[in-house]
Amino acid sequence: MTGPVLAVDQGTSGTKALVVCPERGVLGTGFAAVRPRHLPGGRVEVDPAELYGSVLEAGRRALAEAREPVVAFGLANQGETVLAWDPATGRPLTDAIVWQDRRAEDVCAELAPHADELRELTGLPVDPYFAAPKMAWIRRRLTREGVVTTSDAWLVRRLTGAFVTDAATAGRTQLLDLDRAAWSPRALDLYGLSGERLPDVVDNARLVGATRAFGPEAPEIPLTGLAVDQQAALLAQRVTAPGTAKCTYGTGAFLLAHTGESPGRGTSGLVSCVAWRLADRTQYCLDGQVFAAASAVRWLTDLGVLRDAADLDAVGGGVPDSGGVTFVPALAGLAAPWWRGDLRGSLTGLGLDTTPGHLVRALCEGIAAQVVALADAAEADLGTALTALRVDGGLTRSELLMQTQADLLQRPVEVSALPDATALGVGALARLGADPGLGVEAALPDAAPAAVYEPLLTADEAAERLARFRTAVGALLEGRAA
Ligand code: G3P
Repeated sequence: MTGPVLAVDQGTSGTKALVVCPERGVLGTGFAAVRPRHLPGGRVEVDPAELYGSVLEAGRRALAEAREPVVAFGLANQGETVLAWDPATGRPLTDAIVWQDRRAEDVCAELAPHADELRELTGLPVDPYFAAPKMAWIRRRLTREGVVTTSDAWLVRRLTGAFVTDAATAGRTQLLDLDRAAWSPRALDLYGLSGERLPDVVDNARLVGATRAFGPEAPEIPLTGLAVDQQAALLAQRVTAPGTAKCTYGTGAFLLAHTGESPGRGTSGLVSCVAWRLADRTQYCLDGQVFAAASAVRWLTDLGVLRDAADLDAVGGGVPDSGGVTFVPALAGLAAPWWRGDLRGSLTGLGLDTTPGHLVRALCEGIAAQVVALADAAEADLGTALTALRVDGGLTRSELLMQTQADLLQRPVEVSALPDATALGVGALARLGADPGLGVEAALPDAAPAAVYEPLLTADEAAERLARFRTAVGALLEGRAA
């Protein structure tokens, strides 16, 4: 089946939609912002109606701009964001608790004695980042009858009536048996969720239903591609075989490395999870997270240090280095490989001569140094060196951040020519789901990089900067001043 597809990326800070045609590229785009609320106690919530509304708005805009019918659509989701809803009506019963939210710390503390078992079973450490702790938190407080699921299952129900989640998103819950790619009765039991009505776990590319929700002009559109956003970007970046990795710089930054058809278990602090399941064959990946990337830039913007993210290079470019400032931007805690979501960030080495430029450079180094820690862990688990890092996401527009990344990583950083890799990845899945005979390679967009940043710092200088960052992280981990 040929023809354009509608690819929708429902992310933390907004929904991006593209109408993509295999021969003519992107025919239409649409964006609708989403505004999560950052509350005291590490709580992050969003109105589910805003999520759904943003999907419709972005999709309609892209379709209106393309002015062509689409043969199918695909939906990428934010992964570990959960809510309760009424399965009869689809009406939300709670706000959506966003993946960055830390309120389920207590649930995780209770499960600490089972942490090793859960990690072996599901590939994930016990941490409030994942969906299951938040689902358990909601379930304990829900007074009305309803289901508790990740946001994708709710969106798909609203759009098509189907009650499903894809294997990769299910793999972000800590309720999926990683080896079987099926719900784990033991994990459900440990979380007190045994009686839960859960969505069917389906392949990432297949027909799950159809929708008329994109407006009267759009006829019924089959939904044929589903994915968690990071895995969609992994596919779009053609990281489809062991030995390569990608990093997406969005609200957070996420480094994923493909590991093939064997589930394995990371031993260096990364998460082992499903990359995708196609035609009943599951492929796996390692995943490492930096919880605050663009959200840390937004924080500097809110403080008035920057006008917006586009200002990073102008402000940071005004000084040659961070002037001795070290920033561990753990503004939403530290994720892999440390798994200390309870920690707060630190800013050290400040002086009366510290300028906004120094802070910006220190932030770029802080984000890049965390990505280096993830790449090191991936290399240790893969048993092989990564030759380069493929990168995508909004922050890759910052030359300063990308050069800093190449410098600290001491490897080339290849910036994707696809600014919307996540949407293009789920668009490829939608194409595959609509035309299973197509094959993965034929469904994928061209992944030639738009730019390659080579390291300009010497290895010694890079090592020195990383050592300074690690000392600051060490101080946080030990609860002392750096
Ligand atoms: O795990 C959460 C992550 O996938 C969200 O991605 O693009 O919304 O920052 P993004």
